[in-house]
Amino acid sequence: QDLIDQQALQGKRVFIRADLNVPQDDAGNITEDTRIRASVPAIQAALKAGAAVMVTSHLGRPTEGEFKPEDSLAPVAKRLSELLGQSVELKQDWVDGVDVAPGSVVLLENCRVNKGEKKNSDELAQKMAKLCDVYVNDAFGTAHRAEATTHGIAKFAPVVAAGPLLAAELDALGKALGQPQRPLLAIVAGSKVSSKLTILQSLADKVDNLIVGGGIANTFMKAVGLNIGKSLVENDLVDEARAIIEKMSQRGAQVPIPVDVVCAKEFAPTAAATVKDVADVADDDMILDIGPKTAAMLAEQVAKAGTIVWNGPVGVFEFDQFAEGTKTLALAIAQSRGFSIAGGGDTLAAIAKYKIADQIGYISTGGGAFLEFLEGKTLPAVDILLQRSAH
Ligand code: 3PG
Repeated sequence: QDLIDQQALQGKRVFIRADLNVPQDDAGNITEDTRIRASVPAIQAALKAGAAVMVTSHLGRPTEGEFKPEDSLAPVAKRLSELLGQSVELKQDWVDGVDVAPGSVVLLENCRVNKGEKKNSDELAQKMAKLCDVYVNDAFGTAHRAEATTHGIAKFAPVVAAGPLLAAELDALGKALGQPQRPLLAIVAGSKVSSKLTILQSLADKVDNLIVGGGIANTFMKAVGLNIGKSLVENDLVDEARAIIEKMSQRGAQVPIPVDVVCAKEFAPTAAATVKDVADVADDDMILDIGPKTAAMLAEQVAKAGTIVWNGPVGVFEFDQFAEGTKTLALAIAQSRGFSIAGGGDTLAAIAKYKIADQIGYISTGGGAFLEFLEGKTLPAVDILLQRSAH
């Protein structure tokens, strides 16, 4: 259900749940404002329709009932008013009533400070639902949380709708995993198999090619009998990695295993990097990136893919001597004719580092929500909107 039509919003009180949880430095300056910019179209649409607009979001993980200055959405209100070109007043203690005129927008202070928000209390959700005629959820980044502003309020608000950002995210993810153009290739990288095990298992049933990278690849390399020296590994998941490889190969899908790697004797920004064939990895080596032959082989597979789902850098790309693998794959994704979707904090940092944002099909604003979608889980905030629209 997309943002409901403009006429229907005329003069209405519209409550928009956005995800404005953006990173800030110690002085409280916003260091990355993608989520704020992505929230603007929903707000603008409601304003244009002459609605009285209330927007809220969580910021960080504050203690309930204990508001601290660093929990404040004040910097977000300032940035939002710059982007909208109109003033955005920040409202404190808003649960019992909000004063807002048609054609104006207010930002309701950090919703996670309210008692009952995290626990999705019906009492709180009912009070919030009374503030509005229409509830719009545009917070894809928080769609995996069942909280009072993402879930409970949608049970009680008179009319509910998905905002344009939430709709676009679901559309892009659906396109990538629902009816993908084949071959479907996924890159799942990161330090631990354990933190992405459900994603790997879920994708193992769907994708044609599963490129693993980072510490995750070490566990897969060990599973096929390679020496990985003193690299990061999860020994208790080696059997699981082997099971994934076997399950995929039974249906003709692959988990490409590196043929060469970049090693060091220590994990440090100044560590000397040595390229080695996988057969030459020594017991005191630490694998910190894929080697050039592997990067070229994987880039070729990326070039052939119809759809690419990318989560995670394949090496320690923060250190330049271990960044080539991630850079090669990032540029291959950028050049690919297939539809690409990327998400997750480290992935976004790699996209920014190699300046390829314009060449990615869709960049998700979700971190945890993006990962849970890849796991095949139902997102509670989406589920409740669907339930409401079914009636
Ligand atoms: C995020 O940054 O992933 C979302 O805003 C959700 O934040 P949370 O993990 O604190 O719920």
